[in-house]
Amino acid sequence: MTRVFSGIQPTGEIHLGNYLGALRNWQKMQHECDAVYCIVDLHALTVPQDPKELHAATLRMAQLLLATGIDPEKATMFVQSHVREHTEGGWLMETTVSFGELRRMTQFKDKSERADFISAGLFTYPALQAADILLHDTEEVPVGEDQKQHIEITRDIAERFNSRYGETFVLPKAVIPKTGARVMDLQNPENKMSKSAESPQGLVKLLEPLKSIEKKFKRAVTDTETEVRYDPAAKPGVSNLLSILAAVTDGDPHELAKGYTQYGPLKTDTAEAVVEAIRPIQARYEELANDPAETARLLGLGADKAREVAARTIARAKKNLGLLEG
Ligand code: TRP
Repeated sequence: MTRVFSGIQPTGEIHLGNYLGALRNWQKMQHECDAVYCIVDLHALTVPQDPKELHAATLRMAQLLLATGIDPEKATMFVQSHVREHTEGGWLMETTVSFGELRRMTQFKDKSERADFISAGLFTYPALQAADILLHDTEEVPVGEDQKQHIEITRDIAERFNSRYGETFVLPKAVIPKTGARVMDLQNPENKMSKSAESPQGLVKLLEPLKSIEKKFKRAVTDTETEVRYDPAAKPGVSNLLSILAAVTDGDPHELAKGYTQYGPLKTDTAEAVVEAIRPIQARYEELANDPAETARLLGLGADKAREVAARTIARAKKNLGLLEG
């Protein structure tokens, strides 16, 4: 089975776009691949965080991932800081990547332009990400366009390390997931749904009250025509509803369009389908949120599994580097 690694930052509330675009696919992948899912709390530290908020956000992210159906017996799901080998591997990667390579990372350029405090960690961020990936003998990393550069640098680091010190790391490749809907903002359907939405009405969060989700769909922006047709360029609002409905019902947006002659029923049906998809997730989330001991147990299980693989890889890397065994 293909070893697949995905990382997610704990900060930022999960919305419908994250869920239909990526997380639902995580749930599917665990059955088809040897999947490793990591909540990258150490990466979150590259910008200053409020400790209480970071703590709560990490716990919430773990509970939400479990609630969406990630099965800790099937996949390996863990918190990055629980597995010290990641920090250790990060240093080994920092000494293998060059200053020039890191300086070319577009995400660093974007983030550092906006930050008042630019930590050294923000600059070396891709080295820690490379450690995440390489420590687990990862073959594939499903990512969006924005992360492709980080996977390419990881591959370069692995190649350089292997050629300097001998075969140590598996060379990973980026894969753009085939499935996964591109969910647009319900009020500004030309833009991707995002947590920095202009109006909260356009953003559907996975943990918001179901009534409020329903309302947001009923008030979704459409257009001044009346025809229901899947045509994202000419009819972004209507097409967004159709593709969301298609994603949650495993249907086809063109086919679904044929069943509607008015916008009202399309909105109602999409609202209902989304609410019914989210309802069990929220119910399971509530259970976990009320049982922190169970969450801790499951994260402990994940960390143990992750540590086993990571420790083996780190030992191999240290030996090949000529570090003295302790
Ligand atoms: N950099 C990724 C992001 O911002 C998160 C991440 C950290 C990651 N380590 C990873 C993603 C390893 C894939 C593989 O979304």
